[in-house]
Amino acid sequence: MPERFDVIVVGAGAAGLMCAITAGQRGRRVLVLDHANKPGKKILMSGGGRCNFTNLDIEAEHFLSANPHFCKSALSRYTQWDFIALVASHSIPYHEKSDGQLFCDHSSKDILQMLLAEAGQAGVEVRLNTGVETPVQIPNGGWSVLTNKGELSADSVVIATGGPPIPTLGATDWGHRIARHFGHEILPYRPSLVPYTADLEHKATWSELSGVSMRAELTVASRSWVGDVLFTHRGLSGPAVLQITNYWREGEPVVINWCPDQDVLVAWQRDRHSQGRKQLRTWLSEQLPRRFVNGLMQGWPGAEQTLADIRQDAMAQLAEKLHRYSFQPSGTEGYRTAEVTLGGVSTTEISSRTMESQRHAGLFFIGEVLDVTGHLGGYNFQWAWSSGHAAGEVV
Ligand code: FDA
Repeated sequence: MPERFDVIVVGAGAAGLMCAITAGQRGRRVLVLDHANKPGKKILMSGGGRCNFTNLDIEAEHFLSANPHFCKSALSRYTQWDFIALVASHSIPYHEKSDGQLFCDHSSKDILQMLLAEAGQAGVEVRLNTGVETPVQIPNGGWSVLTNKGELSADSVVIATGGPPIPTLGATDWGHRIARHFGHEILPYRPSLVPYTADLEHKATWSELSGVSMRAELTVASRSWVGDVLFTHRGLSGPAVLQITNYWREGEPVVINWCPDQDVLVAWQRDRHSQGRKQLRTWLSEQLPRRFVNGLMQGWPGAEQTLADIRQDAMAQLAEKLHRYSFQPSGTEGYRTAEVTLGGVSTTEISSRTMESQRHAGLFFIGEVLDVTGHLGGYNFQWAWSSGHAAGEVV
């Protein structure tokens, strides 16, 4: 006879653990399976090791999905305030970094330890190093789950296996394949919140700027974003770059305004007399990082001129380069470094209240595997907590 549980959750990540805790607290017998050797690996590496676990400002507009309304029900029933209260009840110190983003003061380990402690208290069992076959629906109700350690059965199976980013951590698209197997539509998915790679020409100049960080405005067809941009040896990274990749389409140029807070032509008109003897390079370096200015002016004829000497048309040319720089990324760093998957299991045949499949009773999908992707800033974890909680209340 297979070992019996009320609920089997596949995936001991953010969403899976939250679902298991919620169901366990309702008295359900819950087993969490994961093929990795440790639970919650992405939680541990998130937020630069300090886990940006939620955001003070959670609204549906911070999430992308083919159905923008899908996330609303779960987000409103388990909110950022619920998760913050849980964090506070474990006396975990945290702080707001910027734009409502909440980070642990010490370490992401605090969040994982909290979830594992809650799971333990709720009687949840976690089995690691466990490979799982495609679940089989039992004709008179329930599910059979074959693992490399034996056969199990449960009333409900919850797919919480996330997406393929960071395959070295054991990330897979197994959940997408399971959904397809059970007849769900899979929307095209790709790595997102991910650095851009540059072509050879840009790489040559930009690699000299590697490590320079500056405020810029990035624009693609459907969206603009202002924030920090970081030059890397491969291309461009930093919060504003990651954010815009949620909206970028392969092959599309990114228009960069390197000086979003003032119009350089207007500023030059203002200063050309009062600071006329100042070299243009020095003047620009007072507003932008010196290394960036040197890179920008390399080989540019007006580089050594003063504010008074430079001609209007030359200045207009420079302003164009600064305010409307068109960058054609050669691609992104892909799943190797992406933070999330954009796209995934279509929400069309998933209940927004419970996360249950409308095709197969007792089958649930939660977290990143679904076509719900948050902005950078704690939104993706909040989706994991909220969707996990929604399923945990009914499994
Ligand atoms: P998650 O990936 O957490 O868990 C899936 C689990 O399923 C894993 O334990 C995996 O081993 C397991 N699994 C996969 N395939 C399996 C299989 N075939 N069989 C058994 N088990 C399987 N978000 C945010 O809000 N704030 C932040 O600070 C960050 N920072 C961040 C940094 C980095 C480097 C990354 C890669 C990602 C982030 N994120 C983030 C995103 C966040 O980590 C992500 O959205 C959530 O972890 C998704 O939670 P899930 O539970 O859906 O998947």
